[in-house]
Amino acid sequence: MLCRTAALVLAVAMFGAGPAAAQSQRVLVQRGEVLVRQHCALCHAVGRDDASRYPGAPPFRELSKRYPVDVLEEALAEGFTSGHPAMPEFTFSPERAAAIVAYLMSIQTDPGARPQRR
Ligand code: HEC
Repeated sequence: MLCRTAALVLAVAMFGAGPAAAQSQRVLVQRGEVLVRQHCALCHAVGRDDASRYPGAPPFRELSKRYPVDVLEEALAEGFTSGHPAMPEFTFSPERAAAIVAYLMSIQTDPGARPQRR
């Protein structure tokens, strides 16, 4: 049957190493988005075209203009402060820090400055 073959091809495509890795990367990015919407959106622009609600809080999509975004992963897991009195200190589990960074990297407007981790 044609459709059984199609289903098999689809299953192989979905569970093959490449697409599975892409899939888990997407899940990570989605988790990161939920976390920043929960914890950071009060002050920072967290999307692709919103504005920061707190004056002076940099839009997340422009962070890579300041520094490679992946340096934040360690900082977020160890206790992150911006040095700004308005911004609370955050500490995330390593998994959550990785998700947040994956999301941040996915929205940078300056792809040339985006760190390439493989
Ligand atoms: C209560 C408001 C507030 C919240 C909530 C907040 N921030 Fe900030 N954040 C700021 C402000 C204001 C600045 C600007 C600090 C400065 O330029 O001195 C800032 C700066 C930053 C910077 C740039 C720091 C630098 O050294 O350039 C990063 C990265 C950042 N915040 C990440 C986050 C993340 C991630 C979250 C959520 C987990 C978050 N912030 C939540 C207010 C906030």
